[in-house]
Amino acid sequence: MSDEPTSFAFDAEAEAAIAKIIPRYPEGKQASAVIPLLYQVQYQMGRQTGSAWVPRIAMDVVAERLGMAPIRVYEVASFYFMFNLKKMGRYHLQVCGTTPCWLRGSDEVLRACRDAGGLKGYGDSSADGLFTLSEVECMGACVNAPMLCIDEDYHEDLNYERTVALIEALKRGERPAPGSSIGRQTSAPEGGPIVLVEG
Ligand code: FES
Repeated sequence: MSDEPTSFAFDAEAEAAIAKIIPRYPEGKQASAVIPLLYQVQYQMGRQTGSAWVPRIAMDVVAERLGMAPIRVYEVASFYFMFNLKKMGRYHLQVCGTTPCWLRGSDEVLRACRDAGGLKGYGDSSADGLFTLSEVECMGACVNAPMLCIDEDYHEDLNYERTVALIEALKRGERPAPGSSIGRQTSAPEGGPIVLVEG
């Protein structure tokens, strides 16, 4: 059975955001708001259903709102990996597998996601509906590799144990703070800054 809903309408929270987004663009150029509106769809689905994704009917609503042909919205939504075009787990676990993260142990982050999340591998969703696992390319956080992006939060400096702890916290309904899991100050060397420390 398809997960596609048969109707979609923006809720009050999304409408409040849209009222600020569309005026950013010149008259006649409202189609430029397609990406922020697709984000609003995804956020709203997450709020309402616990699964942040973009159903086909919602893309049609975006197309109508922006005066675009639906196919142009489908093209944008299917091009960018940030938009999920099928139902997802409540938490989207995105493991960076690009070289710096791989050299620093992304295989262990992946193993922890599989073990603690009850996931078979990339593309899988857990039976409890909590997690969907994806592999992503460099997320720009290599300086604190390896990293795992959960929805839009970056968790950095991970290893097997700390990734398991992160996932167990999500299962308990907690939302661990993003950032370095070893308390690294932004991108300073491990152990703290070693230059420009005086004056
Ligand atoms: S290689 Fe993983 S964030 Fe850059």
